[in-house]
Amino acid sequence: MKQVGICGIGAAAPQKVLTNFDLEKMVDTSDEWIVTRTGIRERRVLEKDEGILGYIVEAAEMARKQSGIAPEHIDFVINSTLSPDRISPAQAFEVARELQANQAFCFDLNAACSGLVYGVAAAESFLKTRDVKYGLVTAGEQVSRFLDYTDRSTCVLFGDGAAALMLTNDNPEHLIIATELGGNPAMSEEVVIGGVRHLLNNQHNDYYFKQNGKTVFRFAVGKIKELYETVPEKAGIRPDQIKYLIPHQANIRIIDAAAKEIVSGGTEVIANVDRYGNTSSASIGLALHEVWGRFNKGDLILLVGFGAGLSWGGVLIQW
Ligand code: UT7
Repeated sequence: MKQVGICGIGAAAPQKVLTNFDLEKMVDTSDEWIVTRTGIRERRVLEKDEGILGYIVEAAEMARKQSGIAPEHIDFVINSTLSPDRISPAQAFEVARELQANQAFCFDLNAACSGLVYGVAAAESFLKTRDVKYGLVTAGEQVSRFLDYTDRSTCVLFGDGAAALMLTNDNPEHLIIATELGGNPAMSEEVVIGGVRHLLNNQHNDYYFKQNGKTVFRFAVGKIKELYETVPEKAGIRPDQIKYLIPHQANIRIIDAAAKEIVSGGTEVIANVDRYGNTSSASIGLALHEVWGRFNKGDLILLVGFGAGLSWGGVLIQW
């Protein structure tokens, strides 16, 4: 069986910064509440007339350049998104067009905040089983478009951003040594965003992001802990051998609670939710990109995603 690994990474976010103090002027909230309940201090959001495509392309081009792969050699592009600029064609085709990856097959994938992990696992399977060599996985999210900026319980939580990973089975250096995907469809109503039906019927309230925050919180903490134990086991590795754990960035309290339950002192848990908020499927990529320069040969890095669906997934990388 061919080995698959990561050979390039990129990330990008809009210039516009929305701080907690900006939000104080928009809804009945406070910097103090937002920081203590979520750890978020600011987030990046698109300007009104911007799309997310430019940022996905920026991240993708960064990953491509780092990998040294010519655009025409990219075999496929998977773009994770719950918030594309438009419904069709898949945003992945636009990313490939902008990169001039003119031989690529392309599709979008929606697994909400678990999307990047789902994308990497799907790409890994393609690279193991199909006649392909290079696959680009991108994540581009603009959840700000689905927020009701009069609802303090949701509008403070999210930001916009993009990330990209290039994968290959051609002598990869940073190996994917285990993956896990999961879902609980019975809990599909716990985190929702509406669709065209709501827009066309002017049901704006049902169009906006909504969640059962407390249920999702408990689920997330439990799932991070569970995946921290089960994913390394698949590769014959002990959890305490993991050097870096990069969970989906939804709330610092989720990350801290999970970190506390992880008894191993050897694992550093990475967080950047203070500066980006929850960027859905882009969040793990943005965090991974920030710490990429710190890894050493042999380091084990676990990515853990969770979100609407409810969905979850893990990817274990050996540097
Ligand atoms: O990526 C998708 C996955 N989603 C998640 O991972 C989210 C998981 N859940 C969470 O992160 C947390 O549940 C939240 C941050 C969403 C909420 O935190 P909480 O500690 O569960 O707060 P709460 O919803 O129970 O609200 C507590 C109080 C309420 O007031 P009362 O009823 O106690 O008087 C809210 O009205 O805080 C109030 N509140 C706010 N106050 C000031 C809610 N939002 C705000 C706000 N500013 N922005």
